[in-house]
Amino acid sequence: MDPVPYYPVNEFGPLMKGLVIGGVGILHVFLAQFAIGGGMLLYAFERRAQRGDADARAFVDGYFRILVLVSFVIGALTGVAMWFTTIQVGARTIGLMVDEFHWLWATEWVWFSVEVCAGYAFYRFGSRLDDRARRRLLGLYAFAAWMSLFWINGILSWQLTPGGWLDGHGMWSGFFNPTFWPSLLFRTAVATTLAALAACVVINTMDLPRDRKLALIRSAAMFAVPIAAMPLFALWFLAAIPEDSRSWLLGGSMPMTMFVAVAAGASALIGGYVIVGILMKKLTMNIATATLLLALAFGATAAGEFVREGARKPFTIRGALYSTSLTPAEVAQLRKTGATTHDPYPLRDEARYPNPQLVRGAKVHRVLCDACHTLHGSNALVELVRTWTDDQLRLNIAKLQRTKGFMPPFAGTADDVEALVQLLKWEVAGTPATWPLSADPTVTTQVSRWLDEVGTSPMGGR
Ligand code: HEC
Repeated sequence: MDPVPYYPVNEFGPLMKGLVIGGVGILHVFLAQFAIGGGMLLYAFERRAQRGDADARAFVDGYFRILVLVSFVIGALTGVAMWFTTIQVGARTIGLMVDEFHWLWATEWVWFSVEVCAGYAFYRFGSRLDDRARRRLLGLYAFAAWMSLFWINGILSWQLTPGGWLDGHGMWSGFFNPTFWPSLLFRTAVATTLAALAACVVINTMDLPRDRKLALIRSAAMFAVPIAAMPLFALWFLAAIPEDSRSWLLGGSMPMTMFVAVAAGASALIGGYVIVGILMKKLTMNIATATLLLALAFGATAAGEFVREGARKPFTIRGALYSTSLTPAEVAQLRKTGATTHDPYPLRDEARYPNPQLVRGAKVHRVLCDACHTLHGSNALVELVRTWTDDQLRLNIAKLQRTKGFMPPFAGTADDVEALVQLLKWEVAGTPATWPLSADPTVTTQVSRWLDEVGTSPMGGR
């Protein structure tokens, strides 16, 4: 069997790796989705303008255009930031994604380049072009932006539901996976809604009489109507994800359930205000309301992305790669060879530990736990186990996938478990200057038995 590859990793202090990538990701997704919906909305308003609506003309040539430009520029920068952070926190995941979908990434990149060129050309030269060229340029911008979503969506949804790809690694069966369509439609609806809300903010800053402002707001609000179909897409998505992930979202993991509720609640409020308030009851939307709704939409996006990432646990690519960057087969291998035997990287703070067993424990933590935990910061292990007895610690770590179904099976030997247990006890005790070695053979025998009993399969199957 090939040796397990180890990559250098970066630590982010109290932030765990998952949070860092999540934070960058949420900002990126929000901006990129707005840039897509913004393109569609600009196209629709340009058409109105060409039919003689002077206010729509002022809108297209005003701040909104700049907002779209800024968001696709920052969207592009945060996209690069995503690559930069993922290679630090999950080099293997991103490596597998590139291996499997090399040409699809290239395709996505080409569409993205078209989007950037068309968007910039419109921004820079739009005022000098005739109507037809303007329409074409905006249409190209909007279409290319949506196409880049189309391609990236297949790759991202594959991570949670690789579907037929698991048997035979067919590229297209991975791309058109079970959640491809519900998440593409869902994200498209989010994109147009974000654009509608941002447009309402901008329209409120325009120097227009109230009734003309209202007319513009009502046509922008039409772009938020797809939000009405979002519950349907969300149910479709839920039906297509694995049974165990679904059970966490629906009560099995309270933090996730609450995020689902926050996303759904915020979307319902936005949808209700826009559809019932603006379009049916003809209410106005002032700049404060519009900004609040946009902030609510940001919250819903953040909660939604959190749920999507969380639902994948314990995998980054379901059935193929755990969050720890180990494959299921490698877990079984490391049960025999040890988690850190071939780990070439030293600890940054090795001198801190009073004995070699604790050094080993710190390395085991780095390889097997720190994708989702820190010792003292977010999802802090020391706090989770503070009240536990020694055997409780040993049993729960040895049978990790049964302690919580969203953790991977423990990928190490009984001695690795004990080294980690000692590290946690030492940290809970406040890191005293001396610490005894633990080398009781009856403990090793007991932990080995637990490891054998629980096996190396994940709880949710694949
Ligand atoms: C895929 C992500 C992931 C990995 C990898 C992971 N955990 Fe967890 N773990 C979690 C989550 C999420 C929780 C839930 C925290 C909560 O309930 O607040 C958790 C909870 C725990 C708990 C508390 C369980 C309870 O029932 O109270 C312990 C102990 C724990 N993890 C230990 C570990 C150890 C030790 C490792 C490494 C060998 C590890 N975890 C690896 C995600 C992970």
